[in-house]
Order: sequence, then structure tokens, then C-alpha cells
Amino acid sequence: MVDRDGPTPIFQQIRSQLECAIGSGELRLHQRIPSERELSVRYGVSRMTVRQALDALTQDGRLYSLPGKGTFVADRKIIEQPLRNLTSFTQDMERRGLRPSSKTLSARVMGATLEVARLLNIPTLSEIVQMTRLRLADGEPLAIEAVHLPSALVPGLLDHDLGKGSLYVVLRDTYGIELARASQTIEAAEPNKEEVSLLALDGPSPILRISRITFDAHDRVVEYARSVYRGDRYQLTVELS
Ligand code: GLP
Repeated sequence: MVDRDGPTPIFQQIRSQLECAIGSGELRLHQRIPSERELSVRYGVSRMTVRQALDALTQDGRLYSLPGKGTFVADRKIIEQPLRNLTSFTQDMERRGLRPSSKTLSARVMGATLEVARLLNIPTLSEIVQMTRLRLADGEPLAIEAVHLPSALVPGLLDHDLGKGSLYVVLRDTYGIELARASQTIEAAEPNKEEVSLLALDGPSPILRISRITFDAHDRVVEYARSVYRGDRYQLTVELS
């Protein structure tokens, strides 16, 4: 149950145990969880300690409460992305209080294919940097992003550890590239097998395919990015007037 002499605060222990129960499916989506009183009896702790654990889980988006009805298991956190500003994955996650991280799946210098050359506005077969990263938020896979950049604009880009940092920060700080605008298309699609496994999707679940062409302040195409986002976690919002 709880370890009273250990270094981990008791409310944190209760929080992790409830998190495990949610993760394992023992507590199902939208199921009412035991009341504060029941939990305080079960764990042999004060109701205040239980409340602390429940408050933390509510703030994490794992639980929600309905006045007079109780506390329930929340749907997994939805990441709402307003389509207004030209932001990076790192900025988007940090703004939400989520910890961004990446895993580089491939990174190489190669000749641009006909399609990529056309999109980057460079001659076919000119050198490009191509890099695919799995992007995670708080350790959970959220997107797969494949970027293509003309090597001429970013010589030596792969010497930077982009598995850790932000591409847009490197573009700005190392290459003095000021990104100015982007054009983006979004479509719903079915993931292929590799995407299901990389994004840890539970079975077939829709994804969003997003393509972005990013221009710098001199209107040069700096990046052609193809991303796949989890459809169950990502919500795009647009302001209309
Ligand atoms: C977004 C864009 C990508 C861009 C990436 C850079 O996710 N869709 O086109 O490459 O941000 O992110 P970061 O600077 O965190 O590497």
C-alpha cells in the first residue's frame, strides 16, 4: 500500500498507484473512482493526503470531477494547437507545461528527389539534409516528423544534437535564419504499421498528416516537413472572423 518510512511523499505514492490503475485499465475511462473517504480508509491516510493526490492527477488531466457526482478517469490529455503562429514542436509543448523530447530515427545528407526539390525550390539532386524524429511529450510519443532542408542553407546541421534540442533554435542561433511564415496542409489518414508501432497507438486509430513548407524572412524555402500526429491527442483550432 503506502510506504510511510520511504523518501517518496505519501500523496505521490497514492498518485502513482492510481496512475498505474488507470494505465492498466483497472480503472476505465470515465469510470468513477472511489471517494476521498473510501481512499483514505483504503490507504490508511488522511483525506487531505488523498485530496493532494487527486488534485495532482486532476491537474495532469488524468482525472476530472463533476460537482455532486464524484471524480472520474479523464480521457487522455488532448493537446490543443491553435493554428496562428509559426511555432516549433518544442515551443508548443513547453507552452503547455509538457516536457518535449525527441528520438532521431534517421538523419542523412542526400540528393533531393524531384518532389522534394520542387517543394524546396532547388534543382533536383541538389544536396539536402533529411532527418526523421519521433517527438515525445512527457515521454509519450506524439508525432513523427520528417524534415528536409537545403544543405546550402544549413551546412553541418547534422553535427548538432537534434535528438535533444530544437531545430528552429539551431536555425536561428547557428545559421541566423529567421523563419517568417509557413504554409501548411492537414489531412486525416490511417497510420501504417510502422506509425502504429512508433506512436504506440492501440490498434487502428486515425492520424493527422501535416505538411509544412517554411520560408525565411528572405522568402527562401528553408524546410519541407512531413509530420504524422496522433489523432486522438491532437486538436487543431483556427480562429475565423
Ligand atoms: C513543428 C513543425 C516542423 C518543425 C518542428 C521544429 O513541429 N511542424 O515543421 O520542423 O516544429 O521543432 P523543434 O524546433 O522543436 O525541433
